[in-house]
Amino acid sequence: SAAEKGGWSSFMRKEVSEQPEAVANTIRGRIVEGEVHIPELESFGDDELRGIRRITIVACGTASYAGLVAKYAIEQWARVPVEVELSHEFRYREPVIDDTTLVLSISQSGETMDTLMAVKYAREQGARTISICNTQGATIPRESDAVVYTHAGPEVAVASTKAFVAQITALYLFGLHLARVRGTLSREALTEALTELQEIPAKIETVLGESERVAQLAHWMADTRSVLFLGRHVGFPIALEGALKLKELAYIHAEGFAAGELKHGPIALIEPGQPVFVVVPSPRGSASLHPKVVSNIQEIRARGARVIAIAEAGDAAVLPFADEVIRIPLAAPLFEPLLAVVPLQVFAMELSQAKGLDVDQPRNLAKSVTVE
Ligand code: G6P
Repeated sequence: SAAEKGGWSSFMRKEVSEQPEAVANTIRGRIVEGEVHIPELESFGDDELRGIRRITIVACGTASYAGLVAKYAIEQWARVPVEVELSHEFRYREPVIDDTTLVLSISQSGETMDTLMAVKYAREQGARTISICNTQGATIPRESDAVVYTHAGPEVAVASTKAFVAQITALYLFGLHLARVRGTLSREALTEALTELQEIPAKIETVLGESERVAQLAHWMADTRSVLFLGRHVGFPIALEGALKLKELAYIHAEGFAAGELKHGPIALIEPGQPVFVVVPSPRGSASLHPKVVSNIQEIRARGARVIAIAEAGDAAVLPFADEVIRIPLAAPLFEPLLAVVPLQVFAMELSQAKGLDVDQPRNLAKSVTVE
């Protein structure tokens, strides 16, 4: 009903706008005196967390992309290998897991059958299990050794938005907790990361302030038949999520690629007029990824692509090559996904609206898939 939507025209619009709170509420109470504090993890002793040799993340859909983002952060911070598996692929092979494996499941609903079965299987194999979930008392957390709830509030629109940023937030808190226990990050680095996280809600608010322009772009592009998304490092899962949102909400063929893969195939898709969103890493990031992505932009531009860059405020290097630039505030590189995803969600939502589609209940999709 209109009242449930709190004055918004759709649940999707409401939920996209609630993302600053989704992050803030997921952090709330979990940073105490500058340290991560997750009482839900008390069943895991520090020795046990130190003994983890490997983390396997299992999830489906958008939740799996939150897992992919977290892989970069957890490996960097806690120096433990992380693999991300789609739940339905994990179950039907013979994954190598034992009691030194931590299986981390991510599910907004906590009821996705494939993920539930993956967790049960992992436990049978002796793995320890933690669930990241947005729904109190759902089945997956009940079947797990511990649960870290995301506090995004109920998500009604079928395609996930605010749960995604809350999942990344919870996973980052977990990663920083792990890093502290394992002694892999200095106190200063920990404090810096926690400060970055606490600044995210206000920065998402700033990105939401760009929505009008993104909406205009979507309206201009209402007849588009195909959109590509490129990203690198943590921007890669964001490219995947941008493409998924566009498929789900606007029924437009979309694909996300790792920017480094461009020359290994996807560049053949570029023809004049092809719209390409590029998630540009911060020029302040390590390993000089920024110039590499800028040169990707030049390569596709030279072949006629229409480039929409999502770039950090003040990054002037993209200006000569991008047709449109959507700005995100400065953040440490690992935190950029929480900002860069927002314009992509808004774009898909607005394109859906421009096409007169039901943005809350896209055809053929279900909010939670409780069958195999
Ligand atoms: C469905 C929804 C997606 C969601 C996926 C995983 O396909 O349409 O938006 O990402 O399930 O759901 P979960 O509840 O496990 O996060």
